[in-house]
Amino acid sequence: MKTALVTGASSGIGLAIACAMTQDGYDVYGIGRTFPELVPFHPLVCDLLDTRQLLQLVDAVRSERDISVLVLCAGTAYYGLHEEISPSKISEMVRVNLESPLILTQHLLRDLKRAKGTILLLSSVTAEHAAPRACAYGATKAGLSAFGKSLFEEARKYGVRVITVQPDLTDTQLYRHADFQPEKGKDTCLDPQDIAAAVLHALHAPFVVSEITLRPQLNRISKKNRSL
Ligand SMILES: NC(=O)c1ccc[n+]([C@@H]2O[C@H](COP(=O)([O-])OP(=O)(O)OC[C@H]3O[C@@H](n4cnc5c(N)ncnc54)[C@H](OP(=O)(O)O)[C@@H]3O)[C@@H](O)[C@H]2O)c1
Repeated sequence: MKTALVTGASSGIGLAIACAMTQDGYDVYGIGRTFPELVPFHPLVCDLLDTRQLLQLVDAVRSERDISVLVLCAGTAYYGLHEEISPSKISEMVRVNLESPLILTQHLLRDLKRAKGTILLLSSVTAEHAAPRACAYGATKAGLSAFGKSLFEEARKYGVRVITVQPDLTDTQLYRHADFQPEKGKDTCLDPQDIAAAVLHALHAPFVVSEITLRPQLNRISKKNRSL
């Protein structure tokens, strides 16, 4: 049985991927802060901003299992005009969305080379496009996609697959700090299960699916009702 470590496994896309991989036969260790009551994998409670605790936790898993798949899905987003995003929010986005994937990859890369394993980076379509009112978030995702491109070239000769996933608007809690949300309806946004299905497809492919972009047919947002 292959062992996978999945960050962001407590919610949204990461939760869908962790559940789908478990169902597919992986032994999944999922990192998050607040998990639903019952998950079908091993939940590991950790704040990614606490690098020391994070690496200790990962080492505890490594001492028992050979991790061969690393899914870096955790992310956080604050929206608004850039002058309105506080330094602490900028720092949180840079650290969760970009620094933690870079550090976790560095920590596990030798193991993954030995295992001829897979690294999957959850970036975003905002990596490729202008993201007004999400300038800092977009910059972290552009950085993550750039990391994925370089890492793919660096690690491919060692048998490591690097897959960068760039979804568009997806119905999750990511928009908890925004004044808008994905509009519910047919084809208006992606469902986390769509992304999990694409990830499984890429994991099973007999070649490297180095980049995946997923987009809903329509892509619609709606304003939140502030009076509620
Ligand atoms: N939703 C979209 O439209 C969309 C589009 C493109 C890309 N993405 C990317 O997809 C990824 C997953 O996001 P999502 O949409 O599924 O949003 P989500 O439901 O809010 O999930 C975010 C996940 O990241 C974890 N996380 C955030 N900060 C953390 C921290 N300091 N320590 C530990 N875990 C932390 C959360 O854990 P807790 O909840 O337990 O704190 C949660 O599991 C993100 O990288 C996001 O940028 C999302």
